[in-house]
Amino acid sequence: MSQLLLPTTGHSGLQGPRTANRLPRLLPVQEGNGSLGLVEHLFRHGPLPRVGRSVSQRAAAVEEVARAGLVGRGGAGFPTARKLAAVMAARGRPLVVVNGTEGEPASAKDKVLLTRAPHLVLDGAALAAAVVGAAEAVVVCNYAVRAVVAGAVAERRRAGTDDVRFRVVTAADRFVAGEASAAVNWIERGTPLPTRTPPRLAERGVSGRPTLVQNVETLAHLALVMRHGAAWYRETGTEEEPGTTLVTLLGALQRSGVHEIELGTPIVEVLRLAGGPSAPLQALLIGGYFGTWVAADAAMTLPFSTAALAPLGASVGAGTIAALPADACGLVETARVARYLAGESAGQCGPCVFGLPAIAAALERLAVGADFHPEQLRRWLGQVDGRGACRHPDGVVRLVDSALRTFTAEISEHARGWCCGTGGRLVLPIPGRSRT
Ligand SMILES: Cc1cc2nc3c(=O)[nH]c(=O)nc-3n(C[C@H](O)[C@H](O)[C@H](O)COP(=O)(O)O)c2cc1C
Ligand code: SF4
Repeated sequence: MSQLLLPTTGHSGLQGPRTANRLPRLLPVQEGNGSLGLVEHLFRHGPLPRVGRSVSQRAAAVEEVARAGLVGRGGAGFPTARKLAAVMAARGRPLVVVNGTEGEPASAKDKVLLTRAPHLVLDGAALAAAVVGAAEAVVVCNYAVRAVVAGAVAERRRAGTDDVRFRVVTAADRFVAGEASAAVNWIERGTPLPTRTPPRLAERGVSGRPTLVQNVETLAHLALVMRHGAAWYRETGTEEEPGTTLVTLLGALQRSGVHEIELGTPIVEVLRLAGGPSAPLQALLIGGYFGTWVAADAAMTLPFSTAALAPLGASVGAGTIAALPADACGLVETARVARYLAGESAGQCGPCVFGLPAIAAALERLAVGADFHPEQLRRWLGQVDGRGACRHPDGVVRLVDSALRTFTAEISEHARGWCCGTGGRLVLPIPGRSRT
C-alpha cells in the first residue's frame, strides 16, 4: 500500500502536499468498488488548494496546467489549458460543465472514477471554476452513478468545502448525449442534440454564457496538477504525453475492467492488468466505437500513447481497448456497431441521417458475404466524413475505414462463403433499444 499523508492545514496556492508518485494516482489505492468519502479523500490527497482571484493568479494556474501538458480524456485529446484560457477570456458569467455522460457503451472509466473518487473530480471542477471565474458547475452523469455524485456534493456542502455551487443532472441515455454541445443543450433545454460550431461553447454555451465543458477524468487530473504542480505530473507518462490515464479493457480478456496506467505503457502489459488474453487474439479495437481496429500482433508491443499508435491510424481516444478473439468476426462486430451508431444519430444532418444507415447496411452485406464492393463503401465514407454538425459521422468513418483495412482478407473470404467467426461469439456490447 502506498503511503498516505495527513492533510496540512492552512495550505493554499499551487504547491500541495506531495503524495508518493506511484500508481494509482486517480483511483483509490484500495481495490474494490467503494467510494472515497470526503475525509478519506482529504487524508489521501491533502486539502483543496486555493486559486487566487486576481487575473495574474488565475493565469498562473492556466500556465501550470499548460506546463503539465494535460489534454482532455473525453476522446479528442484537446489541451486543457487552451480551453481554460478561452473561457477565462470570454465576456459574461462563465459556467463549468463536468462531463460524466459516458455515452460510449464500451467505456466504463468515467463511471468507475465517479463511483470510486467522486471528490477528486469535484475538486477539479471547483478548481477549474475558480480559474475561469465561474460560480456554478453542473455535473452531468450517468444514472448509475448519480446517487454517489449527489452524495459527494451534499457532503462537501455540509463541510463548506467549495466556493462554487454544484448542480447534478442525470445524463440522457444516448451515444451522442456526451458530445459537448449536446450536453449543453440537455442541461438547458432537455434535448441532448449537438449543435454546429460556431459559436464556440467557450463564448456561448449554457444560457449563452461562456461554458467550459471538461471530461470528468480530465478534471481529476487537473485537481492533481493544481495540488502537486506540473513537474510532479510529468514524472509519469511520456515526454509528449505525460501522466496517467484510465483504460477500460474488455473483450477476450480474463477480466474486463478499468485500470489506471502510465501513458506509454506497452499494450501487452496493459492487457496483463486484465489477466491477459483469454483466447488467441486477431485484432484490438483501440479508442472505443469511434476508434480504430488494428491487427493484434502489430499493436501488442507498441506503447499505449497517441504518438506510438498514430502510424496505425489509432489514438488513445477515451482509453478503451477491446480484444477480438481469433474465432470471432471483425466484419460482423463492425456491422453491429455501425448499425448501433447509425441508430444513435441525432437526426439533424442529411449525411449522418442517410449516410450512416447506408454504411451499416453495406457492412452487413460484407459481413454475410453478399455481393457488395468495398470500394463503394469507401466512397460513401468519403461522402459523410466531416459533413455533420458534430463529429458523430467522422467517428463512424474512422471505425469502418479501419475495419476495411484490418479485415481485408476476411472480406474476400466472406465472398467465397467462409468466415473466421467459427465461435459464433459476439464481443462488443450493444445497448438495448429502450433509450430515452
Ligand atoms: C458523438 C460524441 C459523443 C461524445 N461523448 C462524450 C462523452 O460521453 N463524454 C465526454 O467526456 N466527452 C464526449 N465527447 C467529447 C466531447 O464533445 C468533448 O470533447 C469533451 O467532453 C471535452 O472534454 P475534455 O477536453 O476534457 O476531453 C463526445 C464527442 C462526440 C462527437
Ligand atoms: S452529425 Fe449526426 S449526430 Fe451530429 S448533429 Fe448531425 S445528425 Fe446529429
